[in-house]
Amino acid sequence: MITVVGSINLDLIAAVERLPAPGETLRSGGFSTAPGGKGANQALAAARAGGEVRMIGAVGRDGFATEALACLKEGKVQLSGVREAAAATGIALIFVDGKGENVIVIAPGANDTVLSGDLARANFRKGEIVLLQHEIPLDTVEATLSAVRQAGGVSVLNTAPFRAEAAKLLAMADFVVANETEFDLYVDALKLEGADRKARMADFSRKTGRTVIVTLGAEGVIAASPEGDLAVPALKITPVDTVGAGDTFCGYLGAGLDVGLPLEETLRRAAAAGSLACLKPGAQPAIPHAKEVDEALASR
Ligand code: RIB
Repeated sequence: MITVVGSINLDLIAAVERLPAPGETLRSGGFSTAPGGKGANQALAAARAGGEVRMIGAVGRDGFATEALACLKEGKVQLSGVREAAAATGIALIFVDGKGENVIVIAPGANDTVLSGDLARANFRKGEIVLLQHEIPLDTVEATLSAVRQAGGVSVLNTAPFRAEAAKLLAMADFVVANETEFDLYVDALKLEGADRKARMADFSRKTGRTVIVTLGAEGVIAASPEGDLAVPALKITPVDTVGAGDTFCGYLGAGLDVGLPLEETLRRAAAAGSLACLKPGAQPAIPHAKEVDEALASR
Protein backbone atom coordinates (compact mmCIF):
# COMPACT_ATOMS: atom_id res chain seq x y z
CA MET A 1 0.00 0.00 0.00
CA ILE A 2 1.18 3.50 -0.85
CA THR A 3 -0.29 6.46 1.02
CA VAL A 4 0.09 10.08 -0.05
CA VAL A 5 -0.48 12.77 2.55
CA GLY A 6 -0.51 15.95 0.51
CA SER A 7 -2.01 18.63 -1.67
CA ILE A 8 -4.80 18.53 -4.24
CA ASN A 9 -5.10 21.46 -6.67
CA LEU A 10 -6.86 22.47 -9.80
CA ASP A 11 -4.23 23.83 -12.19
CA LEU A 12 -5.17 26.93 -14.25
CA ILE A 13 -2.68 26.93 -17.11
CA ALA A 14 -1.86 29.69 -19.61
CA ALA A 15 0.49 28.96 -22.49
CA VAL A 16 2.80 31.89 -23.26
CA GLU A 17 5.56 32.36 -25.81
CA ARG A 18 7.87 33.56 -23.04
CA LEU A 19 7.43 34.10 -19.30
CA PRO A 20 6.35 37.66 -18.38
CA ALA A 21 8.69 40.17 -16.72
CA PRO A 22 7.48 41.98 -13.54
CA GLY A 23 4.82 44.56 -14.45
CA GLU A 24 4.37 43.15 -17.95
CA THR A 25 1.06 42.01 -19.48
CA LEU A 26 1.21 39.27 -22.10
CA ARG A 27 -1.43 37.61 -24.27
CA SER A 28 -1.72 33.86 -23.71
CA GLY A 29 -1.77 31.50 -26.67
CA GLY A 30 -4.25 29.22 -24.89
CA PHE A 31 -5.83 28.46 -21.52
CA SER A 32 -6.63 25.07 -20.00
CA THR A 33 -7.38 23.49 -16.65
CA ALA A 34 -6.11 20.14 -15.34
CA PRO A 35 -6.08 18.30 -12.01
CA GLY A 36 -2.83 18.91 -10.13
CA GLY A 37 -1.24 19.45 -6.74
CA LYS A 38 2.02 17.74 -5.86
CA GLY A 39 0.36 15.24 -3.54
CA ALA A 40 -2.38 14.27 -5.98
CA ASN A 41 0.07 14.08 -8.88
CA GLN A 42 2.29 11.70 -6.89
CA ALA A 43 -0.70 9.57 -5.90
CA LEU A 44 -1.82 9.23 -9.51
CA ALA A 45 1.73 8.47 -10.69
CA ALA A 46 2.05 5.69 -8.10
CA ALA A 47 -1.33 4.29 -9.24
CA ARG A 48 -0.40 4.46 -12.95
CA ALA A 49 2.85 2.68 -12.01
CA GLY A 50 0.67 -0.19 -10.78
CA GLY A 51 0.45 0.57 -7.04
CA GLU A 52 -2.51 0.38 -4.68
CA VAL A 53 -2.77 3.97 -3.50
CA ARG A 54 -4.76 6.01 -0.97
CA MET A 55 -4.78 9.78 -0.61
CA ILE A 56 -5.14 11.86 2.53
CA GLY A 57 -5.90 15.54 1.92
CA ALA A 58 -8.67 18.10 1.53
CA VAL A 59 -10.63 19.97 -1.14
CA GLY A 60 -13.21 22.75 -0.86
CA ARG A 61 -16.99 22.59 -1.25
CA ASP A 62 -16.84 24.22 -4.66
CA GLY A 63 -16.98 23.53 -8.36
CA PHE A 64 -13.21 23.09 -8.66
CA ALA A 65 -13.16 20.07 -6.32
CA THR A 66 -14.85 17.69 -8.76
CA GLU A 67 -12.39 18.43 -11.53
CA ALA A 68 -9.43 18.37 -9.12
CA LEU A 69 -10.34 14.80 -8.08
CA ALA A 70 -11.39 13.47 -11.49
CA CYS A 71 -8.12 11.77 -12.54
CA LEU A 72 -7.57 10.29 -9.06
CA LYS A 73 -11.04 8.74 -9.22
CA GLU A 74 -10.43 7.42 -12.71
CA GLY A 75 -7.04 6.07 -11.55
CA LYS A 76 -8.74 4.14 -8.70
CA VAL A 77 -6.89 6.04 -5.95
CA GLN A 78 -8.76 5.52 -2.66
CA LEU A 79 -10.23 8.88 -1.63
CA SER A 80 -11.93 8.11 1.71
CA GLY A 81 -9.14 10.12 3.41
CA VAL A 82 -9.95 13.25 1.39
CA ARG A 83 -12.06 15.66 3.41
CA GLU A 84 -14.31 18.53 2.29
CA ALA A 85 -13.06 21.66 4.05
CA ALA A 86 -14.70 25.04 4.64
CA ALA A 87 -12.15 26.63 2.31
CA ALA A 88 -11.63 26.93 -1.43
CA THR A 89 -10.12 24.02 -3.34
CA GLY A 90 -6.37 24.65 -3.80
CA ILE A 91 -5.42 26.15 -7.12
CA ALA A 92 -2.17 26.65 -9.02
CA LEU A 93 -1.75 29.48 -11.52
CA ILE A 94 0.73 28.20 -14.09
CA PHE A 95 2.45 29.84 -17.08
CA VAL A 96 4.19 27.49 -19.51
CA ASP A 97 6.46 29.01 -22.16
CA GLY A 98 7.41 27.82 -25.64
CA LYS A 99 10.40 25.85 -24.29
CA GLY A 100 8.30 23.96 -21.73
CA GLU A 101 9.61 26.04 -18.79
CA ASN A 102 7.06 27.14 -16.21
CA VAL A 103 6.36 29.39 -13.26
CA ILE A 104 3.75 28.43 -10.67
CA VAL A 105 1.91 30.34 -7.94
CA ILE A 106 -0.21 28.25 -5.59
CA ALA A 107 -3.19 29.38 -3.51
CA PRO A 108 -3.32 26.49 -0.99
CA GLY A 109 -6.91 26.96 0.25
CA ALA A 110 -8.15 23.63 1.60
CA ASN A 111 -4.62 22.14 1.54
CA ASP A 112 -3.78 24.39 4.49
CA THR A 113 -6.50 22.67 6.53
CA VAL A 114 -4.76 19.26 6.34
CA LEU A 115 -3.72 18.94 9.97
CA SER A 116 -2.40 16.18 12.20
CA GLY A 117 -6.03 15.31 13.09
CA ASP A 118 -6.36 13.98 9.53
CA LEU A 119 -3.77 11.33 10.38
CA ALA A 120 -5.93 9.83 13.13
CA ARG A 121 -7.80 7.67 10.63
CA ALA A 122 -4.66 6.86 8.61
CA ASN A 123 -3.55 3.93 10.77
CA PHE A 124 -0.14 3.58 9.08
CA ARG A 125 1.12 0.00 8.81
CA LYS A 126 4.51 -1.68 8.92
CA GLY A 127 6.18 -1.58 5.50
CA GLU A 128 3.68 0.95 4.09
CA ILE A 129 5.20 3.55 1.75
CA VAL A 130 4.13 7.11 2.62
CA LEU A 131 4.79 10.01 0.23
CA LEU A 132 4.94 13.62 1.47
CA GLN A 133 5.67 17.05 -0.02
CA HIS A 134 5.76 20.66 1.21
CA GLU A 135 2.33 21.86 -0.01
CA ILE A 136 0.47 21.15 3.24
CA PRO A 137 1.32 22.60 6.70
CA LEU A 138 4.81 21.50 7.73
CA ASP A 139 3.57 20.53 11.21
CA THR A 140 1.41 17.92 9.49
CA VAL A 141 4.38 16.69 7.47
CA GLU A 142 6.41 16.39 10.68
CA ALA A 143 3.61 14.55 12.52
CA THR A 144 3.25 12.16 9.57
CA LEU A 145 6.98 11.42 9.47
CA SER A 146 6.89 10.56 13.20
CA ALA A 147 3.76 8.43 12.87
CA VAL A 148 5.19 6.50 9.92
CA ARG A 149 8.42 5.84 11.77
CA GLN A 150 6.50 4.62 14.82
CA ALA A 151 4.42 2.27 12.67
CA GLY A 152 7.49 0.82 10.92
CA GLY A 153 6.55 2.35 7.56
CA VAL A 154 8.84 3.89 4.96
CA SER A 155 8.60 7.66 4.37
CA VAL A 156 9.54 9.49 1.17
CA LEU A 157 9.77 13.28 1.55
CA ASN A 158 9.78 15.38 -1.62
CA THR A 159 11.19 18.80 -0.66
CA ALA A 160 9.03 20.69 -3.17
CA PRO A 161 8.30 23.51 -3.05
CA PHE A 162 11.41 24.72 -1.19
CA ARG A 163 10.59 25.98 2.31
CA ALA A 164 13.57 27.01 4.42
CA GLU A 165 11.79 26.11 7.66
CA ALA A 166 11.48 22.48 6.52
CA ALA A 167 15.23 21.80 6.79
CA LYS A 168 14.90 19.88 10.07
CA LEU A 169 12.39 17.47 8.48
CA LEU A 170 14.82 16.04 5.94
CA ALA A 171 16.65 13.84 8.45
CA MET A 172 13.31 12.42 9.64
CA ALA A 173 12.46 10.82 6.27
CA ASP A 174 13.78 7.47 5.02
CA PHE A 175 14.11 8.81 1.48
CA VAL A 176 14.52 12.50 0.60
CA VAL A 177 13.84 13.58 -2.99
CA ALA A 178 14.99 17.08 -3.96
CA ASN A 179 15.71 18.79 -7.24
CA GLU A 180 19.18 20.26 -7.57
CA THR A 181 18.09 23.79 -6.59
CA GLU A 182 16.23 22.59 -3.50
CA PHE A 183 19.12 20.39 -2.32
CA ASP A 184 21.66 23.19 -2.77
CA LEU A 185 19.42 25.58 -0.81
CA TYR A 186 19.35 23.17 2.18
CA VAL A 187 23.14 22.67 2.30
CA ASP A 188 23.88 25.52 4.72
CA ALA A 189 20.95 24.85 7.06
CA LEU A 190 21.96 21.17 7.28
CA LYS A 191 25.66 22.06 7.65
CA LEU A 192 26.59 19.65 4.89
CA GLU A 193 30.27 19.39 3.98
CA GLY A 194 32.02 18.43 0.76
CA ALA A 195 33.61 19.93 -2.34
CA ASP A 196 30.64 19.37 -4.62
CA ARG A 197 26.97 18.33 -4.62
CA LYS A 198 27.71 14.59 -4.70
CA ALA A 199 30.06 14.88 -1.72
CA ARG A 200 27.43 16.90 0.20
CA MET A 201 24.78 14.27 -0.58
CA ALA A 202 27.13 11.56 0.72
CA ASP A 203 27.68 13.67 3.84
CA PHE A 204 23.91 13.91 4.40
CA SER A 205 23.53 10.15 4.03
CA ARG A 206 26.49 9.44 6.33
CA LYS A 207 25.22 11.80 9.05
CA THR A 208 21.56 10.72 8.94
CA GLY A 209 21.70 7.11 7.71
CA ARG A 210 19.04 8.10 5.12
CA THR A 211 18.96 8.03 1.33
CA VAL A 212 18.96 11.34 -0.55
CA ILE A 213 17.97 11.47 -4.22
CA VAL A 214 18.57 14.54 -6.38
CA THR A 215 16.82 14.99 -9.72
CA LEU A 216 18.87 16.83 -12.36
CA GLY A 217 16.33 17.28 -15.19
CA ALA A 218 17.85 16.19 -18.51
CA GLU A 219 20.96 14.95 -16.67
CA GLY A 220 19.04 12.20 -14.87
CA VAL A 221 19.11 11.36 -11.17
CA ILE A 222 21.82 10.81 -8.55
CA ALA A 223 21.44 9.23 -5.13
CA ALA A 224 23.52 8.75 -2.00
CA SER A 225 22.56 6.00 0.45
CA PRO A 226 24.33 4.18 3.27
CA GLU A 227 24.99 1.41 0.68
CA GLY A 228 26.75 3.82 -1.72
CA ASP A 229 26.09 6.16 -4.66
CA LEU A 230 23.90 5.63 -7.73
CA ALA A 231 23.33 7.54 -10.96
CA VAL A 232 20.70 6.84 -13.64
CA PRO A 233 20.04 8.72 -16.90
CA ALA A 234 16.89 10.55 -18.03
CA LEU A 235 15.36 9.72 -21.41
CA LYS A 236 16.51 11.92 -24.28
CA ILE A 237 13.41 14.03 -25.03
CA THR A 238 12.34 17.47 -26.17
CA PRO A 239 10.11 18.75 -23.35
CA VAL A 240 6.69 20.24 -24.10
CA ASP A 241 5.74 20.95 -20.47
CA THR A 242 7.76 19.92 -17.40
CA VAL A 243 4.92 20.53 -14.87
CA GLY A 244 4.49 17.38 -12.77
CA ALA A 245 7.68 15.64 -13.95
CA GLY A 246 9.16 15.62 -10.43
CA ASP A 247 5.86 14.34 -9.00
CA THR A 248 5.78 11.54 -11.56
CA PHE A 249 9.30 10.59 -10.48
CA CYS A 250 8.24 10.47 -6.81
CA GLY A 251 5.10 8.41 -7.50
CA TYR A 252 7.06 5.84 -9.51
CA LEU A 253 9.74 5.80 -6.79
CA GLY A 254 7.06 4.98 -4.20
CA ALA A 255 5.61 2.24 -6.39
CA GLY A 256 9.04 0.65 -6.94
CA LEU A 257 9.83 0.70 -3.22
CA ASP A 258 6.41 -0.79 -2.49
CA VAL A 259 7.09 -3.91 -4.57
CA GLY A 260 10.69 -4.19 -3.37
CA LEU A 261 12.48 -3.46 -6.66
CA PRO A 262 16.21 -2.79 -6.20
CA LEU A 263 16.83 0.94 -5.73
CA GLU A 264 18.80 1.34 -8.97
CA GLU A 265 16.02 -0.23 -11.06
CA THR A 266 13.41 1.83 -9.21
CA LEU A 267 15.32 5.04 -9.94
CA ARG A 268 15.75 4.08 -13.61
CA ARG A 269 12.00 3.52 -14.04
CA ALA A 270 11.12 6.65 -12.08
CA ALA A 271 13.53 8.79 -14.12
CA ALA A 272 12.10 7.43 -17.39
CA ALA A 273 8.54 8.10 -16.16
CA GLY A 274 9.54 11.66 -15.22
CA SER A 275 10.95 12.21 -18.72
CA LEU A 276 7.78 10.88 -20.38
CA ALA A 277 5.68 13.24 -18.23
CA CYS A 278 7.35 16.18 -20.05
CA LEU A 279 5.94 15.14 -23.43
CA LYS A 280 2.32 16.28 -22.92
CA PRO A 281 0.73 19.42 -21.47
CA GLY A 282 -0.69 19.42 -17.94
CA ALA A 283 0.43 17.59 -14.79
CA GLN A 284 -1.91 14.61 -14.35
CA PRO A 285 -2.89 14.15 -18.03
CA ALA A 286 0.82 13.71 -18.84
CA ILE A 287 1.66 11.02 -16.25
CA PRO A 288 2.59 7.82 -18.13
CA HIS A 289 1.21 4.34 -17.43
CA ALA A 290 3.62 1.52 -16.52
CA LYS A 291 3.35 0.02 -20.02
CA GLU A 292 4.57 3.26 -21.62
CA VAL A 293 7.55 3.33 -19.25
CA ASP A 294 8.37 -0.33 -20.07
CA GLU A 295 8.22 0.44 -23.79
CA ALA A 296 10.38 3.56 -23.48
CA LEU A 297 13.03 1.69 -21.48
CA ALA A 298 13.01 -1.25 -23.89
CA SER A 299 13.44 0.96 -26.95
CA ARG A 300 16.25 3.07 -25.50
O1 RIB B 1 4.51 19.89 -9.31
C1 RIB B 1 3.49 20.40 -10.13
C2 RIB B 1 2.34 20.88 -9.32
O2 RIB B 1 2.74 21.96 -8.53
C3 RIB B 1 1.17 21.38 -10.12
O3 RIB B 1 0.27 20.36 -10.48
C4 RIB B 1 0.58 22.45 -9.24
O4 RIB B 1 -0.67 22.15 -8.74
C5 RIB B 1 1.59 22.67 -8.12
O5 RIB B 1 1.18 22.11 -6.97
